[in-house]
Amino acid sequence: MALYAIGDLHLHFQTELKAKAQLRDRSWRNHEQKFRRNCAERIHPEDTLVLVGDHSWGRNLGECEQDMQYLSELPGRKILLRGNHDMFWDAKKTEALNKQFCGRLCFLQDNFFPCDDYALVGTKGHCFEGPFYLNRRGQIIGWDEKNEERSKKLVSREAERLRTSFESARAAGFRKYIVFLHYPPTSILEDDSVFTRMAEEYGAEQLIYAHSHGESRFYDSIHGEKNGIQYRLVSGDYLNWQPARIL
Ligand SMILES: [Fe+2]
Ligand SMILES: [Fe+2]
Repeated sequence: MALYAIGDLHLHFQTELKAKAQLRDRSWRNHEQKFRRNCAERIHPEDTLVLVGDHSWGRNLGECEQDMQYLSELPGRKILLRGNHDMFWDAKKTEALNKQFCGRLCFLQDNFFPCDDYALVGTKGHCFEGPFYLNRRGQIIGWDEKNEERSKKLVSREAERLRTSFESARAAGFRKYIVFLHYPPTSILEDDSVFTRMAEEYGAEQLIYAHSHGESRFYDSIHGEKNGIQYRLVSGDYLNWQPARIL
């Protein structure tokens, strides 16, 4: 039983595509077909695929119907994490989504899903993304402090949600964890964060994240091993639509 992950499919079967990067960048051309083919080649029915947020451009469930259909037809068990663009997913309605899509899709927030002897825990997360002010050499000399304050509130709310997820897994007897965040675990100003420290506190083995698009953003946060945790970016364009093998 294998575990795979990828994020940021940004599907738009029913909605007009407004994202310029998606229209411009060759790596996004027919990405749904590429990804479906890649999944069919490697993922088996007994495997698990975690979709790490930003599933659809649809603004509500009605506008996401075909996108959800596409996801449910991918092989294996599909677990969805909430991304910043997932307008269809009201944070308070995760349980309702789990009921509505029971047997087709699973929604990870304030809960966990078992995978062998691991608990898959996670939440959307958050990190401060500026705007930053640069000097002529491109060095950061300041940033929007009001925005930074707003960002701190979002970070602490998401940290609570991650703790709820960890605690529900621990209460069920799990001691091995893999953490999923949609946002990178650290901003470009940070070496660690409440999310990395919590992952260390619970002894998580891996922290998987997405959200960073385009070459200029791929190395905004941590890659590889740090303090005993493997960090991995799995945004779809970074992986060229090849789901990453996690376990
Ligand atoms: Fe995204
Ligand atoms: Fe995102």
